[in-house]
Amino acid sequence: MISPVIRPRRLRANPALRRLASETRLHPADLVLPMFIREGAAEPLPIRSMPGVVQHSLDSARRAAADAAAAGIGGVMLFGVPLVRDAVGSGATDPDGILNVATRAIADEVGDALVVQTDLCLDEFTDHGHCGVVSVDGSVDNDTTLERYREMALVQAASGSQLLGLSGMMDGQVAAVRDALDGSGFVNTVVLAYSAKYASAFYGPFRDAVESTLEGDRRSYQLDPANRREGVREAQLDIDEGADIVMVKPAGSYLDVLADVAAMSSIPVWAYQVSGEYAMIEAAAANGWIDRRRAVEESILSIRRAGADAVLTYWAAELATWLNERGAR
Ligand code: PBG
Repeated sequence: MISPVIRPRRLRANPALRRLASETRLHPADLVLPMFIREGAAEPLPIRSMPGVVQHSLDSARRAAADAAAAGIGGVMLFGVPLVRDAVGSGATDPDGILNVATRAIADEVGDALVVQTDLCLDEFTDHGHCGVVSVDGSVDNDTTLERYREMALVQAASGSQLLGLSGMMDGQVAAVRDALDGSGFVNTVVLAYSAKYASAFYGPFRDAVESTLEGDRRSYQLDPANRREGVREAQLDIDEGADIVMVKPAGSYLDVLADVAAMSSIPVWAYQVSGEYAMIEAAAANGWIDRRRAVEESILSIRRAGADAVLTYWAAELATWLNERGAR
């Protein structure tokens, strides 16, 4: 019989050794819960393709944010679902638009127990579903859109958002928004740049969540899924433009990009586990094809292992509950 000298299994022999040898840990503070708030909703409404996730009413959103804070979650990322949309996304810059109303309500509810964050993008508010203003030739006009983002940033910051998630993928958006914020005294409002945001099929269920339909596709502004270097380039540009945090999105299919960005970044790196990633695991688990809890934990652990300091995930609240139970054991 051959007796190996080197036995990696030694460190896997029992739970105590495995716990001590673990390279990556999950913690509620590293999780951000995305939340949808629907204008006019009297009660939470289910989202067909995202079982377990709801479109909140203002009241239920306040309660969910308070619960998230109590569970020790790092933050909530708010998305508005307006009743009326138009070509320029007027609801985004209306102080009485649903996202801004919800931001005030939630900031008022949770104080600074967690970081209240808002999606800064026009797609929830435009009737064509694009992230920016569409010009006569049908293309999304970068520089006109930057002006809208600057207005949006000021209204969101004034509403009490501490961290703006710039998810529109317009060139120069970080510098443009930073300049607008600084020029109006919001020097401490944090800018999260969705730096490497890919034109992904995994955003599918999000359309149900915000009830938006898209004319055409987003390939002229979101990254080509084939490109890895380009994701790193976008992150570098955003760092140079003054971003406070960079993000890779989606997460699970882009762990290589995430690892590259984590290796080069001098600022925190986050990742967004998007609606389709959520829906796939939920669907497989509902069929009894995978163990739901193990798959959820493994998927988020993998995102952290690849280099994300924090993760936006629709399972944030539930995962925090599991982690808190375990911590108490
Ligand atoms: C843009 C935005 C989107 C998502 C987050 N911010 C939609 C898109 O770019 O198509 C998708 C998130 C998800 O799928 O969970 N407002």
